[in-house]
Amino acid sequence: MNNTFFLIASILIFFYVVTTKFTRWKSGNVIRLPPGPYPLLIIGNIFELGEKPHISLASLSKIYGGLMTLKLGSIITIVVSSPEIAKEILLKHDLSFSSRSVPDTGRVVNHHLFSVVWLPVGDQWRRLRRISKQHLFSVQQLDDGQLLRREKIQKLVDHVHECCTSQKPINIGRAAFTTSLNVLSNFIFSTDMAPYDSVESQEFKDAVSGLADVVGKPNLADFFPLLKPFDPQGLLREANVHAEKLMAILDRMIDQRVQARAKSSAAASSTNDVLDLLLDLSAKNESEFSRNDILHFLFDLFAAATDTTTSTLEWAMAELIHNPEKMAKARSELEEITGNANIIIEESDICKLPYLEAVVKETLRLHPPVPFLLPHKALCDVEIQGFVVPKDAQILCNVWAIGRDPSIWSDPHEFMPERFLDVNIDYKGRDFELIPFGSGRRICPGLPLAHRMLHLMLGSLIRKFDWKLEPEDMDMSERFGITLHKSVPLVANPIKI
Ligand code: HEM
Repeated sequence: MNNTFFLIASILIFFYVVTTKFTRWKSGNVIRLPPGPYPLLIIGNIFELGEKPHISLASLSKIYGGLMTLKLGSIITIVVSSPEIAKEILLKHDLSFSSRSVPDTGRVVNHHLFSVVWLPVGDQWRRLRRISKQHLFSVQQLDDGQLLRREKIQKLVDHVHECCTSQKPINIGRAAFTTSLNVLSNFIFSTDMAPYDSVESQEFKDAVSGLADVVGKPNLADFFPLLKPFDPQGLLREANVHAEKLMAILDRMIDQRVQARAKSSAAASSTNDVLDLLLDLSAKNESEFSRNDILHFLFDLFAAATDTTTSTLEWAMAELIHNPEKMAKARSELEEITGNANIIIEESDICKLPYLEAVVKETLRLHPPVPFLLPHKALCDVEIQGFVVPKDAQILCNVWAIGRDPSIWSDPHEFMPERFLDVNIDYKGRDFELIPFGSGRRICPGLPLAHRMLHLMLGSLIRKFDWKLEPEDMDMSERFGITLHKSVPLVANPIKI
């Protein structure tokens, strides 16, 4: 009896070890998964994630290496934490890893069925990416939008001036959010969506940030798909509230335009902005690009653009205020290039400002707004460095860990823009030690706009103002979500120079 019990127990343990840790049975063969911490029965490695998964997984990768397996409930997750492996995944095997692992909260308002962010690579995804590339973020389109961005940056500077005069502290993230929101809403709808310090801007910000927080939270429904109908943590419900709010605002904007176009005798492009262009495209081929597709596309643009740009700007300002000598260096470069203190920096000046560019790179290295990129998914089994990344595995690329790896960066936790001055490293997806926008097929399509916006906003905020903290002591901790924010918003007093 005892012997039989031990025999059965040993067989079960053997199968458990074989199937969970090192290997998996596949079509009669055993495949070798990348190494990783030992998974507990049923829950796997869920507890390893902790409060701040990007930090917990960075620590684990020091033990298990740049290609690591975790079992999150029933989902095999492969965590990438080295530039060499990121290059294999995002460049060499780009197509095999180009699909998305869609979190349950990505399914709100059926968004995953229409969204350029969540659709797998296919005809509709390609169509949406083509529209982004040709009609939104081409050099020509971006150059045409320069005046508009200049106007919005001037408004930001005017707002800061007013606060200087009235000695009012500024919530920098909120001001940056309003600017990004208005740049985008003018580009798309030819209208400001929110004035500074307005309720509308705050509501929009709360909805976008709320959504990013919820979508980024570890969700039991993702780890155990059987739990999906029960939404055990209430995250889907919460995401729904935020998504419906955003959808309603965008829907209203589209409706107003459709009605205005119907009334106008010149029914074609009346304002010639992005919405007109999208409606024209839809009129030409409704079956390929419907009004509903436009709605979801705009939802993606607003959600993806505002929170990321805001978080980067807030961190850049926080680091500069924390390091006054770097702030002075950036300002003196700006003075040299732009001369007159009243001139807002031009987009054509950006490439003449290597220190400012280095500040933005250093900020994105230390504080990548999307610390794991968005989750990719393997379309087939792929062999990487002698291990097999199995079909359907979720791939998380820990760019936060890569940015702080001491074998790549000296003093990795120090804010040192100088490190980028003498090296040719950029964040455009070719240098895998710095990929805050991703790389390959799924690279962020908004990168060229984000690049211009970040330099314009940062340059204008530090060119004309010095900043004093309120309160004196600055908290630099992070709040984890799909976008990584400062946990305590940066509030500072501008001082006119
Ligand atoms: C600092 C600013 C920004 C950062 C750091 C950033 C970063 C990223 C990252 C990491 C991804 C996922 C890449 C991957 O999974 O491999 C992404 C995707 C995306 N981003 Fe951005 N982004 C920024 C700004 C913007 C802007 C301004 C827009 C548009 C106006 C935008 C639109 C998108 C879209 C539509 C996707 C989904 C692409 C796809 O899945 O095919 N982003 N972004």
